[in-house]
Amino acid sequence: MNWDELYQTGVTPWEKGAPAPPLIEWLRKHGPLEGEVLVPGCGYGHDVRAIAAASPKSTVVGIDISATALKEALTYSSVGREVFQSASIFALPQSLQNRFDWVFEHTCFCAIQPDRRHDYLKMAVSALKPEGKLLAIFFLNPWDPEDEIPEGGGPPFGVTKEEIDNLFNPHFDLVDELEPKTAFPGREGREIVRLMRKKRVGVSEC
Ligand SMILES: C[S@@+](CC[C@H](N)C(=O)[O-])C[C@H]1O[C@@H](n2cnc3c(N)ncnc32)[C@H](O)[C@@H]1O
Repeated sequence: MNWDELYQTGVTPWEKGAPAPPLIEWLRKHGPLEGEVLVPGCGYGHDVRAIAAASPKSTVVGIDISATALKEALTYSSVGREVFQSASIFALPQSLQNRFDWVFEHTCFCAIQPDRRHDYLKMAVSALKPEGKLLAIFFLNPWDPEDEIPEGGGPPFGVTKEEIDNLFNPHFDLVDELEPKTAFPGREGREIVRLMRKKRVGVSEC
């Protein structure tokens, strides 16, 4: 998947010009994400800025592999301590490891090939401090049964709760799960929000 080409050619159906409604819902209900926050696959950075605006003392790091997306992210006025960095979730730089209090997931997990999900898990485990938290909006079923699935499948790739359990439970404790009341049009009832806490295990055990 050439993500930068998609941004360059304006083929960005995921780009809504606003932060994820379930994130805003979460922040209103539970308050800011305190400390250092990593947002993988941040795109234009709407979620990064929403977290930074709600959490003025927090450093929020948005990473992406698309230079075009990051260039666009930098055109927005700063709202807090947000920074954007070019990095792949599959080769997390040392400077981003064992550092974060939070990882916030939204439409990065569903964008990668399902056979790379274990590498996503490794990224989250290695980015977080012991007992750091993963707050994730998971896209359960992006396609209606009657939808025409694009040739070759997604993305976005859906995921079941059982698959999430099997992947994350060995390394994270589930703290909370909720069905968001708000969503981007078309995503209603298709997402779940999970709050998970990293167990005290080393990344080598992933
Ligand atoms: C579906 S888009 C979602 C972007 C953003 N989260 C949003 O909701 O607007 C997936 C994003 O993940 C980025 N991405 C894909 N593979 C990546 C990787 N290996 N490391 C970092 N970012 C990646 C893409 O460039 C793209 O910006």
